[in-house]
Amino acid sequence: MKALVLAGGKGTRLRPLTYTTAKQLIPVANKPIIFFVLEQIKAAGIDEVGVIISPETGQAVREAVGDGSRWGIRIAYILQPEPLGLAHAVKVARPFLAGDPFLMFLGDNLIQGGVRPALEAFSRPGGPEALIMLKKVPDPRQFGVAVLDSEGRVVRLVEKPEEPPSDLALVGIYFFRPAIHQAIERIKPSWRQELEITDAIQQLLGMGLRVEARLVDGWWLDTGKKDDILEANRAVLDEYTRPEIKGEVCPATKIVGRVMIGAGAKVKNSTVRGPVVIGEDACIEDCFIGPFTAIGPCSRLKNVSVEHSVILENCFLANVYRIEDSLIGKNTRVNRLNDPRQALRLFLGDDSEVVITL
Ligand code: TTP
Repeated sequence: MKALVLAGGKGTRLRPLTYTTAKQLIPVANKPIIFFVLEQIKAAGIDEVGVIISPETGQAVREAVGDGSRWGIRIAYILQPEPLGLAHAVKVARPFLAGDPFLMFLGDNLIQGGVRPALEAFSRPGGPEALIMLKKVPDPRQFGVAVLDSEGRVVRLVEKPEEPPSDLALVGIYFFRPAIHQAIERIKPSWRQELEITDAIQQLLGMGLRVEARLVDGWWLDTGKKDDILEANRAVLDEYTRPEIKGEVCPATKIVGRVMIGAGAKVKNSTVRGPVVIGEDACIEDCFIGPFTAIGPCSRLKNVSVEHSVILENCFLANVYRIEDSLIGKNTRVNRLNDPRQALRLFLGDDSEVVITL
């Protein structure tokens, strides 16, 4: 059994962060999303992994992820010259996958509890040709949607339907046997010029092959947009944060709940209410750091109140009350000056967003 992790794509919905960072490298709880994916793959017992990369961000992904030895897996990088769809990525990876069954995992998706139970269901003797994971969602129009029969077998799939035939969205985790390659040979690009994996699975059904589904009970995180990253950060902090203080905390600081403070970080005269993670060498002074906040390494916060936010590395934030529901990219500076004109002076990257509610 191999795994194929998709870390290409354009990431347009996460601009401006994705102008300089691969979407899969954006950290939640101070760890790149793709690291959680690789951990879940290893925990399922798979140690041969192909990672699909794009020409734009492939080098950054290679540098961050390396050869996989830190997870005890072997990683091969596979360049997808253009983001022509999930099924196209499988096509490009065909020499790597050879004739093996495989787990395909979108590098920006995560599910609670990992993939081991699904892998066991797929691999059992007499297991299906493909196994997909589904999650009930309130608005399925932005996802691939599955229709099941009364016995729970998959009968039909539709990609981003205007009128969804069910509320079961396809999670970005799939198990396939080699027949998927024949199915992909038979499909044509969709209206958005992509080879859709939903069309390929529909082909499997048309070929008379069995496709099973498993419902995800816990959370499913698809980190395509800003609010999805905040939700992923919330869920991951909630699940994985344990109290661990490696940095320096002054006696006037109040730490409440589960807070992780990295080595070399300094927290002075502040209140930190977990779950919170503060990266290595960060500096926090006269602040309130509220629940579900991740502060990246080397960031400096002075006289700031922040909660439910992700602040990446090397930022400088000063004199701002209060920041919430925010995603702040690397090396960003936000400062309130004591200036009677009270004007906003902005220097923002393309496709940035500022919401002022004062
Ligand atoms: P998407 O989120 O569907 O696409 P995207 O990354 O291009 O983002 P956007 O719609 O905001 O422009 O992709 C899901 C995952 O699959 C993501 O991790 C990127 C990856 N992917 C590839 O590796 N190759 C592809 O051809 C596509 C479409 C996606």
